[in-house]
Amino acid sequence: MSLAASIAAPAALASRASASRRGRARLASRGVTDASRRVVGARGPIDRVARAVASPSLPSGPLDDLPVPDFLRGPLGDIVRNVETALPDDAKKALLRTQYTSAVGLRLAFFLTQGVLSSRVSGRSNIDGAAAAAAIAKAVLDPAPRAKIPDEKSNLGNIVSNAADGRALTDDEAAEVSQFLEQHLTCIVNLFRTELEHLENGTYKFPYDLNPATAPTEQWNPAQVLAIASDTLSDQAKVSDRRNAKRGQELLDTFGPDPERYPAYYLQNFHYQTDGWLSADSARLYDFQVETLFLGSADTMRRQALPFVSRWMEGRDPADTKVLDVASGTGRFLTFVRDNWPELDCTAVELSPHYLDAVRKSNERFEDVATYPRAGPLKLVEANCEKMPFEDASFDAVTNVYLFHEMPKEARRNAAREFARVLKPGGKLFFVDSAQVGDGKALGMEKAFDQALERFPQFNHEPYYRDYSLTNLEELFGEFGLVLEESTVAWVSKAWCFTKREDPSEAVEEVEPVVVEAPDLSGAGAR
Ligand SMILES: C[S@@+](CC[C@H](N)C(=O)[O-])C[C@H]1O[C@@H](n2cnc3c(N)ncnc32)[C@H](O)[C@@H]1O
Repeated sequence: MSLAASIAAPAALASRASASRRGRARLASRGVTDASRRVVGARGPIDRVARAVASPSLPSGPLDDLPVPDFLRGPLGDIVRNVETALPDDAKKALLRTQYTSAVGLRLAFFLTQGVLSSRVSGRSNIDGAAAAAAIAKAVLDPAPRAKIPDEKSNLGNIVSNAADGRALTDDEAAEVSQFLEQHLTCIVNLFRTELEHLENGTYKFPYDLNPATAPTEQWNPAQVLAIASDTLSDQAKVSDRRNAKRGQELLDTFGPDPERYPAYYLQNFHYQTDGWLSADSARLYDFQVETLFLGSADTMRRQALPFVSRWMEGRDPADTKVLDVASGTGRFLTFVRDNWPELDCTAVELSPHYLDAVRKSNERFEDVATYPRAGPLKLVEANCEKMPFEDASFDAVTNVYLFHEMPKEARRNAAREFARVLKPGGKLFFVDSAQVGDGKALGMEKAFDQALERFPQFNHEPYYRDYSLTNLEELFGEFGLVLEESTVAWVSKAWCFTKREDPSEAVEEVEPVVVEAPDLSGAGAR
């Protein structure tokens, strides 16, 4: 992603002015928040048949929201259900395809526009929106199941003319960067094609947030979308300032090292993000920033772990299945898991009280008994995942998305050990993070890919990313008895599935936790 990042990333890595330092310090000293330990939702009657979506499920919404008289709701509901049952699978697939392509097309266009605007605001690079759109159109129109990755012969016109530092690129440089971007844009289109296949095969449900009838209002209400877009853009200057000054350690000034509560590596402005992980504003803007960075494909990349979950859930009773989502962020991935298997008994662990509160909010939808009559409980726990307050072997599955690339090596080991410890023998780890060096081969673009992995962390204050991208995860998790089952590359992400060995005595090595060292706060290390 490096050059894509150096051009498109200024758009994404903005966040708004935040709560006062005093307010934050107060929150920091309060310990576990009100949100933690709260139990949300109620478990209803048990349906013993685990739901694997056997055929494509059409996007649908609650009829309650339709502007029709009450006496029509019953018959209308019957008609909708009958039509859905009677429709042949081919017709369902055609409908689903139309809905999916319009939803992700709109999303891609929206976030591309946001990226172009942001590149103008930052004044560093200029993305030519029309050239980028042409590259996307070419990939969309390619009749093959996966669009061909463009090579140097492709000449759609340059997508950029400036480098990340604002310097004008020579013609050759501009052509090279543009080809690199064209390749990545093609990969995004291919990622969406992969997801559409999963939906058509009924591997998982049509994502609730791509359907206007069921999406959260902040995603579809124009006033709310404009507000968050404008807040993100208006913070761009602060993020750029931080990036120019390579100031990624502001949080340490506010909180000071507090190893009891926050490890030193945590108190950083990852992505030069305002307030790091420690404010409500940061949590409010996070998803929008991430989606801008990945041009609307971040949720789709997260969901590429769902086919693994889906296979595992076949024949299982979700109400009797305990899932722990570690470092939930705002809870996006958890909402997709719960939307597919609402009966699951879930727990979310987060170190930031503000993000934990965002998990509570994003999961409020499962309290609507009309839509989710049998939703299982959700517990919210504020804790460091290197030392979690759970019994050994207490979960059937652990899920973890986009965490490890932000942890130093020792912390990753601690977390891996914890994942293994809390999993039952035979339990699963569903893991998503950045793709790693060499993974571009699977997509047919190794060079552009490895360049991206090398340059992205330099531009984005990701001090542990490079090391992560070279880490052998099979070995790391294997050391603690987690055996690799399968993995898949999803553009710049990779989804993995591990199984905890059945024999618990060999599974978890007894090792003392390693003390995590503070990051280098001086010189280049403190970028
Ligand atoms: C890049 S975000 C990923 C969030 C989310 N899983 C997603 O898919 O977007 C990293 C998250 O991990 C949390 N985090 C970082 N270190 C942690 C730790 N040691 N224990 C628990 N949470 C942590 C941060 O607060 C942040 O919300």
